[in-house]
Amino acid sequence: MFHIDIQKTERFTDEKALREARKTVQQSSEDLDNRTGKGSGWLGWQDILQKPNDALLENMDAIGAEIHQKADVFIVCGIGGSYLGAKAVIDALKPEFDDSGPEIVYAGHHISGRYLRQLIRHLEKPKSDGSPKQVYLNVISKSGTTMETAIAFRVLRKWMHDQYGDEAVSRIFCTTSKDGGALNKIIKAYGYRKFILPDDVGGRFSVLTPVGLLPIAVAGIDVKQLVYGAVSAYQDLNKDRSNLLDYVSARYALYKNGYAIDLIASFEPALTSMGGWLQQLYGESEGKNGKGMFPAVAQYSTDLHSIGQMVQDGPRNMVETFLVVDDTGQTVIIDKDNRNYDGLNYLSGKSMEHVNEKALQGTQQAHLEGGVPIFTGYMSQLDAHSLGYAIYYFELATAIFVYALDENPFDQPGVEAYKKEMYHLLGRNNG
Ligand code: PA5
Repeated sequence: MFHIDIQKTERFTDEKALREARKTVQQSSEDLDNRTGKGSGWLGWQDILQKPNDALLENMDAIGAEIHQKADVFIVCGIGGSYLGAKAVIDALKPEFDDSGPEIVYAGHHISGRYLRQLIRHLEKPKSDGSPKQVYLNVISKSGTTMETAIAFRVLRKWMHDQYGDEAVSRIFCTTSKDGGALNKIIKAYGYRKFILPDDVGGRFSVLTPVGLLPIAVAGIDVKQLVYGAVSAYQDLNKDRSNLLDYVSARYALYKNGYAIDLIASFEPALTSMGGWLQQLYGESEGKNGKGMFPAVAQYSTDLHSIGQMVQDGPRNMVETFLVVDDTGQTVIIDKDNRNYDGLNYLSGKSMEHVNEKALQGTQQAHLEGGVPIFTGYMSQLDAHSLGYAIYYFELATAIFVYALDENPFDQPGVEAYKKEMYHLLGRNNG
């Protein structure tokens, strides 16, 4: 379903370093299983797979289908772990240029007034038949207090009420913690429909809870397949974790050897947002007390024409992690052209997938020779089950890697620093 090939990292790690890394990583894996590691009260992302909540999945499916049918635009309002997982799965599985079901748009993931103004203008623009757009809104915030999300929600909520009057209440869905936070106060006052993110699941580990599942279901994606893909990974990796531990050990040994950057790359654009989700999972979990690898994302071959030079020939402190799909399910065949002005007839009859695969192999070979250790994550198909499988694989790998760093994978104290400075500059008081 999903595994990572570490062969192309082997020439960059010596036997002894790898043996030591493996020992540390093995211990980290046991600490996680025994629930004796740091932040062990935050392992709900495993518990939801041990006992999948079918009633919740059916509920998500039913509400998602209803909104899918009624909405022209569905707004996902959240930041960080509150939207990146949904975006990763939707971008991976919703066909490009697909106009069946609602348009999924994002808000509350930055503080640009220009963006929000233009979004509202877009919502207000009638459909081609002259009728108004049907808009639904899902605000997602575990804390219920995140400023980016709270401002956008305040603005969009007012717009919804101005637009739909009392009916706005049935068009607004809130995903947050069971108790506490400003969002819970708003839900209580207005009667919006609420979905709960369990207390023991952190934002970036929450894609398989209502945080990710509602937007994913609205996009028309089978949430049961997704979650049960992760359940399969949970069961498989409880039985045999050797591939995952090999991967984490090699990555840890490289990190100890001075490799400071992990560039997550894919030749399939549908997986670029999956890279964005992984970037946050790795970055926010690892980056503590001067430790961790800086995660970056690239979309190839596009970015080979921008950062390719740097990867090939810049400072040798980078590893690459490729996300590869064995079967994308669709392709284009390159036709023969009798005039052959573009000189491409040597490719006639070949699929673009074939060319893309050769581009992947060629790039890996060139980067390897240029001194870049390469991990390759293989997903068998681009479907919900395989994605769910990969999601749990990476969640588990993250937790074990961060335990090897002797840090807590589940907190993010550093994120508070910018907020403190910003609130000070904004003159926030308790009002
Ligand atoms: O992973 C995390 O915990 C964070 O990225 C949060 O998801 C992000 O900061 C948004 O927080 P909240 O959901 O509380 O608005």
